[in-house]
Amino acid sequence: MCGIIGYQGKNSVVPILLDGLKSLEYRGYDSAGIAVCENNKVKIIKAVGKVANLEKKIDKNISSQIGIAHTRWATHGGVCEENAHPHHQGVISLVHNGIIENYVELKNILLKKKYTFKGQTDSEVLCAFIDMLYKENKDMLKTISLMQKEVKGSYALLILNEEEPDKVYATRCNSPLIVSYTDDGIYFASDVPAIIKYTKKYYLLDNNDIVIAHNSIEFYNKNLDKITKKEEVFDKTVEEAQKGEYKHFMLKEINDEPKVIRELLNYYVKDNKFNDNMPYFKKYNKIFIVGCGSAYYTGEIAKNIFEKYVGIPVYCYLASEYRYQKHFYDKNTLVIFISQSGETADTLEALRKTKENGVDALAIVNVYASSIAREADKVLYIKAGVEIAVATTKAFIAQVCLLTFIALKMAGKEELLKYFANLDKEIEKLINLDYKPVAKHFYKSHSAFFIGRGIDYGLCEEGSLKLKEISYINSSAFPAGELKHGTISLIEENTPVVVITSNPDLKPKTISNAKEVKARGAYLLYITNDKEKDKFYNDVIEIRHIHEIVDSIMMVVPLQMLAYHVALLKKLDIDKPRNLAKSVTVE
Ligand code: AGP
Repeated sequence: MCGIIGYQGKNSVVPILLDGLKSLEYRGYDSAGIAVCENNKVKIIKAVGKVANLEKKIDKNISSQIGIAHTRWATHGGVCEENAHPHHQGVISLVHNGIIENYVELKNILLKKKYTFKGQTDSEVLCAFIDMLYKENKDMLKTISLMQKEVKGSYALLILNEEEPDKVYATRCNSPLIVSYTDDGIYFASDVPAIIKYTKKYYLLDNNDIVIAHNSIEFYNKNLDKITKKEEVFDKTVEEAQKGEYKHFMLKEINDEPKVIRELLNYYVKDNKFNDNMPYFKKYNKIFIVGCGSAYYTGEIAKNIFEKYVGIPVYCYLASEYRYQKHFYDKNTLVIFISQSGETADTLEALRKTKENGVDALAIVNVYASSIAREADKVLYIKAGVEIAVATTKAFIAQVCLLTFIALKMAGKEELLKYFANLDKEIEKLINLDYKPVAKHFYKSHSAFFIGRGIDYGLCEEGSLKLKEISYINSSAFPAGELKHGTISLIEENTPVVVITSNPDLKPKTISNAKEVKARGAYLLYITNDKEKDKFYNDVIEIRHIHEIVDSIMMVVPLQMLAYHVALLKKLDIDKPRNLAKSVTVE
């Protein structure tokens, strides 16, 4: 959603803040800003757009060693400097990631106290509210504790107080924030990539913990008891968070996929049997799979595997809808929450609703000890490593793979694990195909369609989202049989249509639907795991058929590479598409 970074220590703070913002820019890039303490005054510099715009405005001779910074994904109020963080009110400056739900109520209180506001954000209101509380009791710990009791919503906060210019205060509630203590100083960040070059050790904060950084580090819980925290170690390298020789993180992360498959097999499987990292699952009689965006589509794909091999019904829900629907749970229901970041607010709130009902909640997550991972009854990690590109790729493949493992475990079908043996090599071959010729048929189009049946429809949904989110082409996925019930009216000469068949039983009907659009001038790209004699298509990408439980995982790769090459032809910002953010921590 937004990225925040802070530092207090021996080194010059400006390079640390700018470097950290660049590492966090994938979390939001509408505007950026820094606040540093210099000669006991807080200096704030902001810029609309990417961090590079901010960098041009900063005097590199600033000698401060304490500061906070923010890169924004706009929620309340447009993209402008007034709404950029850090905000300043009275003696308080802050950066905020999250949403204050009762900010209008707070703003009315503050207006009566003669506070004025430059922008329209909830964060500026929060800043003024903290300033008001501080002026009433002149004690920052008490102030933050009082704020926590009055404010509704989510926040990860870094706060500077001009009356205590050598301290950084921090607290969080339902938005991620980590803190690291090193010989050079104390670092705060929304996520590990921002600080991994300084240290791999960090502390996770619980909701409403308060941290004071002042050459040393002090932790307090919400009752203002002084506490100690367990130090975590980040198990990935700095390179993980860099794109290396690749032009984009997205391409690097797709090329990571063979390694991710090997990592998953090494972690959960030994000699074609599940090891102890794959837990026992009791006999559930139904499964719900809940997620957002691509995470939801992993469920749409995996549903077919669960229902065929485990023989129980699987219901997939968009997390943002799930919360408001009535569910007919029972003690034999399992709800699986899928989230790469583990911080998606819609999914986190859906998890909380499930737990209120006492239903078993399993999280499938990438980011270690993220909120969803920590609040689920059980968590299985997809071991995909740091994923920076906003468009998820390797995490998606890993999620489908791990969900398939779980289905095989529940079904007692470990013998099918043998079909994963060469999956990494097959994925590598698919990555290295030439996608430029087919991408040329898409990049000038204003719309595109993906059609398939059954499990192939789930693939179409993900392929369509990938194309849409990085190329801005208005793409849609349709069950193959559905297109003719209205939407086929949109097919024009050269409208690109991707047709996917992996299930031989469903293939003839899908090919008939494909011919219906071809007859109306469409450009057909056919993705299949079968040799097709009938050349009904314009271009074809053939996957080597191994087994249905791995074919669908392989078929995701051409969809990802197609989207990548279309966006490349359009010369778009592939890793940071407009309007998006990597982790959507607001509902
Ligand atoms: C996928 O490419 C998108 N970035 C988006 O749909 C994403 O999958 C969704 O926001 C869920 O994110 P999560 O997996 O971190 O919960």
